Amino acid sequence: MQLIDGKAVAAAVLAECKEEIHALRQQGIQPGLAVVLVGEDPASQVYVGSKVKTCAELGMHSKKIVLPAATTQEELLAVVQELNQDPTIHGILVQSPPPAHIHEEEIIRAIDPRKDVDGFHPENVAKLVLEDPSGFVPCTPSGSMRLLAAAGIDTQGAKVVVLGRSMIVGKPMALLLMAKNANATVTVAHSRSRDLPALCRDADILIAAVGRPEMVKADWVKDGAVVIDVGINRVPDASKKSGFRLTGDVAFDEVAPKCQAITPVPGGVGPMTIAMLMKNTLQAARQQNGIT
Ligand code: GUN
Repeated sequence: MQLIDGKAVAAAVLAECKEEIHALRQQGIQPGLAVVLVGEDPASQVYVGSKVKTCAELGMHSKKIVLPAATTQEELLAVVQELNQDPTIHGILVQSPPPAHIHEEEIIRAIDPRKDVDGFHPENVAKLVLEDPSGFVPCTPSGSMRLLAAAGIDTQGAKVVVLGRSMIVGKPMALLLMAKNANATVTVAHSRSRDLPALCRDADILIAAVGRPEMVKADWVKDGAVVIDVGINRVPDASKKSGFRLTGDVAFDEVAPKCQAITPVPGGVGPMTIAMLMKNTLQAARQQNGIT
């Protein structure tokens, strides 16, 4: 069984980014990322913190904007519009999920698609469908693809099951896998799919992105399969100082021995998401400065 080391692969991507940032700065271009957090969700606070910290480590400019949970739709739209106009900012990310009273789709549509480094704007979703490389690809799926490549996993003609159909992971992941460079045969399974275990058991490569702790059991996985666990779930654990532990969507201990390769949680897909965000922000800075 091969344990796919997301931290190591992310470190390699970040090293590439750091070099490119250095080169851009020598041309007088300072790439900049704005990260907007609305409310006090503890997990989101951690994610936003590590995005901003990574920017600093790479020499990228960043702006962290933390707004109270009671922020109105109009106030948030105004913040986005100001960032759209800010020439020091090339990438804008509004951390998901926002508080329930926020209409997230309208916020995403308000982001200048040229700065939409999450790849959530309809214009970038269309470019993903069209396989137009000028668009931004969502970070978690592109990071998962990069992990497969780094682990030497061939997707050509492979049977892949994507478990989950979210806009952030499942749908874009399925599109990347069926694109002409990956050529996988993709099944998208979800909570309403009939006989999920049997569907998953058919997969050469299983992508688990449902957000349910340890849902994928050993008998859901074919012998010799590759498993990419996208879930990062907090489950109560009194033995931890924080009061919780992190676990994926896969019951790792029972599934791992059956696998050809598997990603751990933490230390698998998580670090890749941030690394790909940095790459997307560099793409944005390049494109906004007419560098091809
Ligand atoms: N929440 C969980 N993953 C993501 C992501 O990739 N981008 C944003 N904006 N929010 C998220």
